[in-house]
Amino acid sequence: TQEDKRVRCVCVESLKEGIFHYSLYHQPRRRAVSELWFPSLCSHFSVNACLMPVCQLHGAAVTTVEGIGSTKTRLHPVQERIAKAHGSQCGFCTPGMVMSIYTLLRNKPQPTMEEIRETLGGNLCRCTGYRPIIDGYRTFCEVISSFISGFLHAVGESLEPFQKLLPLDPTQELIFPPELIRMAELEERATQTFRGERMTWISPISLDELLQLKSQHPQAPVVMGNTNLGREDDQPNLHQSRISARLCVCVCVAGVCIGAGSSLSTVRSVLEKCVCSLPAEHTQTLAALLEQLSHVAGEQIRNVATLGGNVASAYPNSDLNPVLAAGRCSVVLQSREGKREVPLDKDFFVGFGKTVLKPDEIVLSVFIPVSRKGEVVRAFRHAPRKENALATVNAGLRVWFEEGSNVVKEMSVYYGGVGPCTVSAERTVQQVIGRPWNEATLSDAYRALVDEVTLGASAPGGKVMFRRSLTLSLLFRFYLHVLQHLKDTNVCEGEIPSEQLSAVERLPNIIQPSYHEFQDVPSGQSEQDPVGRAVQHQAALSHATGEAVYCDDFPRTQGELFLSVVTSARAHARITHIDVSRALSMPGVVDVFTADDIPGKKFRSFTGIDEEILAQGEVTCVGQMVCAVVADTKPHAKLASAAVKVHYEDLPDRIFTEAVEKRSFFLPQREIQRGDVTKAFQEADHIYEGEIRLGGQEHFYMETQSMLVIPLGEEKEMKVYASTQHPTMVQEAVAETLGIPSSRVSCHVKRIGGAFGGKLSKTSILASITALAAWRSERPVRCVLDRGEDMLITGARHPVLGKYKVGFMSDGRITAADVRYYANAGHTPDDSVLVIEKILLHMDNAYNILNLRGQSAACKTNLPSNTAFRGFGVPQTPWCSAVHCGCIREKNLYKETSLTHYKMEFDPEVLLRCWEECKERSELDRRRLDVARFNQQNRWKKRGIALIPLKYGVGFAEGFLNQAAALVHIYKDGSVLVSHGGTEMGQGIHTKVQQVASRELDVPLSMIHISETSTSSVPNTCPSAASIGTDVNGMAVKDACQTLYKSLEPIRKQDPNGTWQSWVAKAFLERISLSATGFYRGHDLYMDWVKQEGRPYAYFTYSACCSEVELDCLTGEYRTVRTDLVADIGRSINPAIDIGQIEGAFMQGLGLYTMEELKFSPSGVLYTRGPGQYKIPAVCDVPLQFNVYLLSGSHNPHAIYSSKGVGEPTVFLGCSVFFALKEAVAAARSDAGLSGPFTLHSPATPERACIACGTRFTQMIPETETAQPWALELP
Ligand SMILES: Cc1cc2nc3c(=O)[nH]c(=O)nc-3n(C[C@H](O)[C@H](O)[C@H](O)COP(=O)(O)OP(=O)(O)OC[C@H]3O[C@@H](n4cnc5c(N)ncnc54)[C@H](O)[C@@H]3O)c2cc1C
Ligand code: FES
Repeated sequence: TQEDKRVRCVCVESLKEGIFHYSLYHQPRRRAVSELWFPSLCSHFSVNACLMPVCQLHGAAVTTVEGIGSTKTRLHPVQERIAKAHGSQCGFCTPGMVMSIYTLLRNKPQPTMEEIRETLGGNLCRCTGYRPIIDGYRTFCEVISSFISGFLHAVGESLEPFQKLLPLDPTQELIFPPELIRMAELEERATQTFRGERMTWISPISLDELLQLKSQHPQAPVVMGNTNLGREDDQPNLHQSRISARLCVCVCVAGVCIGAGSSLSTVRSVLEKCVCSLPAEHTQTLAALLEQLSHVAGEQIRNVATLGGNVASAYPNSDLNPVLAAGRCSVVLQSREGKREVPLDKDFFVGFGKTVLKPDEIVLSVFIPVSRKGEVVRAFRHAPRKENALATVNAGLRVWFEEGSNVVKEMSVYYGGVGPCTVSAERTVQQVIGRPWNEATLSDAYRALVDEVTLGASAPGGKVMFRRSLTLSLLFRFYLHVLQHLKDTNVCEGEIPSEQLSAVERLPNIIQPSYHEFQDVPSGQSEQDPVGRAVQHQAALSHATGEAVYCDDFPRTQGELFLSVVTSARAHARITHIDVSRALSMPGVVDVFTADDIPGKKFRSFTGIDEEILAQGEVTCVGQMVCAVVADTKPHAKLASAAVKVHYEDLPDRIFTEAVEKRSFFLPQREIQRGDVTKAFQEADHIYEGEIRLGGQEHFYMETQSMLVIPLGEEKEMKVYASTQHPTMVQEAVAETLGIPSSRVSCHVKRIGGAFGGKLSKTSILASITALAAWRSERPVRCVLDRGEDMLITGARHPVLGKYKVGFMSDGRITAADVRYYANAGHTPDDSVLVIEKILLHMDNAYNILNLRGQSAACKTNLPSNTAFRGFGVPQTPWCSAVHCGCIREKNLYKETSLTHYKMEFDPEVLLRCWEECKERSELDRRRLDVARFNQQNRWKKRGIALIPLKYGVGFAEGFLNQAAALVHIYKDGSVLVSHGGTEMGQGIHTKVQQVASRELDVPLSMIHISETSTSSVPNTCPSAASIGTDVNGMAVKDACQTLYKSLEPIRKQDPNGTWQSWVAKAFLERISLSATGFYRGHDLYMDWVKQEGRPYAYFTYSACCSEVELDCLTGEYRTVRTDLVADIGRSINPAIDIGQIEGAFMQGLGLYTMEELKFSPSGVLYTRGPGQYKIPAVCDVPLQFNVYLLSGSHNPHAIYSSKGVGEPTVFLGCSVFFALKEAVAAARSDAGLSGPFTLHSPATPERACIACGTRFTQMIPETETAQPWALELP
């Protein structure tokens, strides 16, 4: 199992099969204890594979996705339903989704919708937008029939497919392995010791033994859930998971004592039982803890993370410690010297990760006293994402009143996230004790709190002002809760003003069924013809069963090596020496090489500018690849690369954010203009000027950069398996690096676990390095980046600074706009110049601004090089125009056939239809009034609604990139193998191409197979990008199929009643070729930047999107209440896939504009290098109602079967959520007495939204001193 990738996972939230199911059998002789909390003999938990040490699984049965069903035998319903609901795109996350729900169903065959949602809270998907996954699994709920019929009606399908769903039959599930039961019952329990190369793992069987071991190895950590513990410790690990103390829970009159080894899930169910069974006045602390527990991590973590582990880790953001401390809890600590009970108060936490525990002590149990009459306890938290994210700030607060009065007798206020450990606000509390619970008392408390809980300007984690304001607003929330309590218990009279109550109400969170609408196929279309039908993704079942093979799934080959790269630790420095001696002497190390060892070209050229493959002499960013280490295993390669010592001499003039002032640009810069901008500004009634920043975005594809290079041993041939969107670029890069012809290198892509533009240029450089390792060692070499490395090395979406000036008339018409865009390109040009060109081409978006000037520049900085990302600059482009268009968007739309600012003619009729339909479907006018009413009635929650249009050009402005080729073989049995130049990365290109081939050859879909994309089958491929994959590859396949169909015509005529198989067999006998190539030249697209005119796009696609949000002004947290999106995609080839693309892109846009934040240190080091620090949207972020309508009656003569490209455009529409948020913020500002325009940069994170609201709490925080902030302000 050590070698099994499925167990050897790296990243909590992101891995294929990162989640597996794990059953534990409880020994009958201990059942008396365990039954209390584990009612059945066998318990089922879903856990994160990457965090579960194999040693800890002794005696447990582990089920992975392969164990529950397969396409060869029988599918499990949980696998079938995600596939049928179109809940799988690239498929990399699918096994994790499957196993989470499988475990839920093992424990509860008919779960509620809330349980399904909560279960999926610990899973991430970057492709689907989650909606289809939720819909697929909703079918397991008890109350589903009305939903199913509604859903199918919406998608225009009959009920039949869902009636044919495999039923869930709990009696058919796997049984717990009898051998393990026997082992548990019969085997004498004995200490287990596992020894690895660097670690010893000891699992003692009794508390005494554990304490003895702990006294012998005081520095050895006690591994419980392992969720907080690094695996890199050289000390022996003591494992105590099988001692009875772990399960001990005891409820007595004084309180509840919970064994420290109880998992957080167990603690939760214990507390639920206690809260239900004890009198309400006793359960204040228990209920507050329960509230926090429902937000701690995801279920997979809660199933293993322990209470004792949480306390002992003393993490500053622990959600439990502030409540435990405020709730007068205590812990029992034990060592060989004996036991002691210690209060869990301010003195318990002594520093970052430090408590009063002595090295040989363990936490045995936690005691939670019942609350007393007159005591109120509450807990609050705010996190960057609503679920599965560590809190930014949390609080545990308790107040105890004199009997029957509102005078405070005792109070505790503890915060997390505002210091190195849990912090007590003692001086603040002193302001309150002995005084009545009212506004005046609390006002003094706020003032004291501002002085007491402070953070320096460079405090780790940043967000200083926000965090400080949260301490105040959480205290205010507590004040209102307590006031409410006093009223409910008749201690106080009078009413709390109703608008203030919004401070204690929760944001809505019930997910509603969604509505989808698309065109039916024309009447008379043959039943067999799949074009236009919602055909399931061709690999959906392989994804759901774990059979789908990704690059790193290829089995290890004989003698295979692993490559790890050494990256620069400096942003700008000269390399004075690279010392590889220690690395070379380490176990398993085979080779270390630098740029000097490259036999061919030492650089790659992108847009005519060279980028070094490995740094030569100088480094220009942190994360730049310096050299590579090759070893027999991944751990050996990683350890050795850490042992390479690179010596630097720092160079001056590092540039991170000052490129504009220092005029540091990659050339050329671009400019475009129409009309007379200067004159128009002179004549405008009003002029509005400003700056807006749009942060970058990490691709966060679930499958990190992966490749395997196999030297074939003769004639310098190399076979490259890579996860790339551009196989030809990989082939060329490898050939150039090695100095061999391209014909000796073949690149193969089976499928990609997500790419989004991030697997183009950067993959080709990594493939060159890996190929060099294979070339030198003459052995296969694999390179798979860890998540942190991937995020550090491969760049992101370009952050953009927009400086704009807009002139408009009093009636709202925009008459002039002048915008300068500065994109932070990083240290190499990559595709940046193309990105800034696209920015200018899309700067008008859907608005007809007659006098328009745009300039754009790619800034050269000492940050990692940014690269292509879905939308390729477009999500950053119409940005400024959308900002200043605001509520006057409709007035400025293109209304009639017009020329764009680069003189391309188009008819906006479809754009206007999208706009009108979206307005109508979303009931915008009525809901605007509702929003205004809501905002009037609520002070601390505000709503906003925004409708945004989009015009998006499809195609590469470089004409030659729009070509495509295909190769189609028909075999003698009639089966068809199609090869084309597009890569399958979840966008469903293979499924759509199969649909094309099926129609053209007039054979059922099941006869068509696509195995892989390979440069040996189809040479000189263009990248799968720019939303044109199906447009161009579909045309090439159509061409090849038509050739074949035509060549079979004589045979069909001879035997009109024959079958496809008989015609093919006959053709072979008659020596008719059953193989054909197809080619599509593509449109002649171009852009002449000198003349500032061109036809850079084959056509435009249009859409409109309306989103409504509800914002919590005290924390900046928000919820998208509803989104209606109308998209014109011509006549869809596969509406299910297209709706999936639209939803996924929208969610990625929602992440871009409101959540995802790249953070760099002042010296240019990327902080955000994993799912812990970088938050992408999760299930909790899906709009509660998300309706997608494909515009009917739209045609497109420029693409296959009148369809349109769909992959990228709707990323931009995520900004409808941003603008809705901006409206909500504006409403809050108005209540705060702030009027006029204001700037809200993107992403509009809770921090930015909350500060922009300008509440009295944010205004109380004084400006911090001018020390260097913790993070850079990009771009
Ligand atoms: C993805 C993720 C999300 C998370 N989100 C949250 C969150 O939202 N809120 C939150 O509060 N926490 C969160 N956590 C932290 C999590 O709650 C803690 O990691 C967990 O509670 C630690 O328990 P454990 O059993 O896994 O400890 P381990 O990792 O096994 O041990 C942690 C440390 O505690 C010591 N230790 C453990 N048990 C004992 C004991 N009985 N006596 C003495 N020392 C002991 C160990 O020696 C070690 O040093 C998250 C963690 C992850 C991985
Ligand atoms: S399908 Fe979920 S990450 Fe691709």
